[in-house]
Amino acid sequence: MDIIEAVKTRRSIRGFKKDPVPKEVLREILEISCRAPSGSNSQPWEFAVVVGEALQTIKAGNVEMYRSVGGDPYAGRTSSGNSPESVYSKRSTEVMALVSDLIGMKRDDVEARKKWREKGVQYFGAPAAIFICVDRALPEVIPLIDIGIMIQTICLVALNYGLGTCIQGQGVMYPKIVAEHAGIPRSKRIIMSIAIGYPDWDFPANAIVTPREPLDSITTWKGFE
Ligand SMILES: Cc1cc2nc3c(=O)[nH]c(=O)nc-3n(C[C@H](O)[C@H](O)[C@H](O)COP(=O)(O)O)c2cc1C
Repeated sequence: MDIIEAVKTRRSIRGFKKDPVPKEVLREILEISCRAPSGSNSQPWEFAVVVGEALQTIKAGNVEMYRSVGGDPYAGRTSSGNSPESVYSKRSTEVMALVSDLIGMKRDDVEARKKWREKGVQYFGAPAAIFICVDRALPEVIPLIDIGIMIQTICLVALNYGLGTCIQGQGVMYPKIVAEHAGIPRSKRIIMSIAIGYPDWDFPANAIVTPREPLDSITTWKGFE
């Protein structure tokens, strides 16, 4: 797949077919993605790729936790913590409204929203999840840039295999459960999850193309005139 096409067509997929993703395909995607750059070639990433019963157990554990303790699926990862009036919160609300409209979920329907979040903590039904970790010995912040580059690389490479992805902070909201069943040792920090599988194109929310700010409102050009 052409790189421009990949960047332009990648979108978050929140409805998957049940078909399993072959291990060789997942391996190839990660092998290729490891060409991603990192500061001083430090390659701070480590992966746990989970399918089958182990993933089922994580999904069930996440739902149980969500039902018992709740939680903000975006805690500390995206716009949470910003004032509700901020442009970041506005964009976040907009994307949720887009999803809600397409799946027929009313804004004030608390039960439906809970159900949606329960789907989220179950990786939206994806047959596989990739957990990206870093060693706890590394500094907290700097490797996150490398990890971000890696995550986008995986999502783009996956497209070449007809796969869809959803980067999910909510997928690592209960790291103890993930760690236990994905076999991730205590010495590793679980940063993010990627739900991965073959997209169910009949699922309405997969049609969403999220908006972006016009480039000129976020870019300063100097020295061209
Ligand atoms: C760091 C990060 C965390 C995210 N966490 C979630 C999540 O927990 N649940 C979810 O449904 N989408 C999550 N997303 C997907 C974003 O909502 C999505 O990327 C954004 O709305 C832009 O849409 P697009 O991916 O379709 O272009 C996350 C994306 C990123 C980059």
